[in-house]
Amino acid sequence: MNDIKINETPVAEEQAQPILTHERSLSRKIAHGSEARDILDQQMAILGIQLVTQLNVLIKTSRIYERTNSALDKPVDTMLTLIKTMAQDQPLRLRLQNDFLFLGDSHLKVNAQQMAVATSIIDVLNVWKIGGITFSLAVESKDLREFAALFVSLDPAKNTIEDLQKEIISRNVAGIGLEDQRELQIRPGTGATASSQFGDTNSAGSDGVKNVDSKGQRKIAAKNGYVKVGESVGSLTKAAREGGTVSFKQAKRAIQNIIDIMQDDEATVLGLTTLRCHDEYTHNHSVNVSLLSIALANRVGYPKVELADLGLAALFHDMGKSTIPLEVLNKPGEFTDDDWMLMRNHPTEGVLILSRMRGITNLPGRMAAASFEHHMNQDFSGYPKLAVPWTLSLTGRILTIADCYDAMTSSRVYRREPMSPSKVLNMMFSKSGKAFDPVLLKLFVNCVGIIPIGSLVMLETNELAVVLKPAADKANAERPLVRVIADPQGDSVEHGREVDLTEKDETGEFRHHIIRLVDNTEYKFDTSRYFT
Ligand SMILES: [Fe+2]
Ligand SMILES: [Fe+2]
Repeated sequence: MNDIKINETPVAEEQAQPILTHERSLSRKIAHGSEARDILDQQMAILGIQLVTQLNVLIKTSRIYERTNSALDKPVDTMLTLIKTMAQDQPLRLRLQNDFLFLGDSHLKVNAQQMAVATSIIDVLNVWKIGGITFSLAVESKDLREFAALFVSLDPAKNTIEDLQKEIISRNVAGIGLEDQRELQIRPGTGATASSQFGDTNSAGSDGVKNVDSKGQRKIAAKNGYVKVGESVGSLTKAAREGGTVSFKQAKRAIQNIIDIMQDDEATVLGLTTLRCHDEYTHNHSVNVSLLSIALANRVGYPKVELADLGLAALFHDMGKSTIPLEVLNKPGEFTDDDWMLMRNHPTEGVLILSRMRGITNLPGRMAAASFEHHMNQDFSGYPKLAVPWTLSLTGRILTIADCYDAMTSSRVYRREPMSPSKVLNMMFSKSGKAFDPVLLKLFVNCVGIIPIGSLVMLETNELAVVLKPAADKANAERPLVRVIADPQGDSVEHGREVDLTEKDETGEFRHHIIRLVDNTEYKFDTSRYFT
């Protein structure tokens, strides 16, 4: 067996050598948000990629060699060094969530070369339905060898993750644990608010959002939050145009409140994005894009504190538009070539404006990425065009989806008739993998539903209804929760009943079903009033 060659590209030398980056326990002493923390996080991410790479080599090599074979020495030794470096403070958690790898709470970003390795590990974890592997300082060489041998000797088609866990225990594998895969729905509120992580102690209470228990109160709080976020975009855009000092504090606080509500009730918050106020000052588009991005990032598994940063970045993705004269922005007719040139510059202008703003020190990379990348598209068919290779950030890819969805469903952005939400989703799916990241697009549909929130549908009773919430059960994705808004004669009904389309009668048949989707533009309904 020993003479079999491993049919695999050797791991590049520099990748195999772990860098011992920091003093033990240093991570506890460095404040969040500081530059030192940024550097530490970056180094942890590099080490995390190395760990994934070595784990991949270890598993592949174990498929060919016995556990004691020296061919396993290198990946095992490297992994041990990495674990001893990274698990000083707490066990190291490599997690898989919705096909993204995380190290603890940080998303492990991989470049094009690392993609194959990451995909290979993601596949292995998915086959076993493993949601995470933890490594603690107790792990030794024999444990890693035994663990890898188990992985390749048991058949995932015949064994479950529980069987694997039992074997780990019975073979005395120390320092390695497995976590179940959880389908990420909406994380329940934890009690701790995102705001507390910013050291902003009185923020949630002042807006009356905390302790919101009843559904009605939550709706009011959500709407207030929406308005507050809108106001802060308004004042910051004004400050950008006039060169004043900007403070993101109000916007950040308002976003944190919205995140708190969203974690209990995603549908209510997303329902707000169907608000189509016709007045400019609320800056609905920016707020909607922010809420949709937060919801998508929540599905991706972003930790709460990062959701707030992403929401803020999303809020200012179109800051570059403040350089475009209002007469161009509000032009009723067709754009000239010059107008388009100005429009196409707004992502780059946005980065310049954000970096020049007084009041911002250290422009967060995520904010710059949100502005710079949101019209680039997955296949770089959009703008700006770059002469150098570019890797789109996760923030940029999330933004592209949220931005396009809101722009197409709303009439205001390009001043044309809005498309119905389901038509927009269909159009977006036709560009999956081209304009949009396919995995993110699927997750996005989970948020808004196949028949998206705010859609109008005709029931078999000839009653018209509006979609309030996607079905919780994916198998019944085409059966959302709806509210009747017009009777069979077409007369509008106030306080119409809610119909759960997944509900069955005594014979096991569905009580109601949708006979057709109705284009919102057919009826001049403002569906948002059913959410507020
Ligand atoms: Fe834009
Ligand atoms: Fe936009």
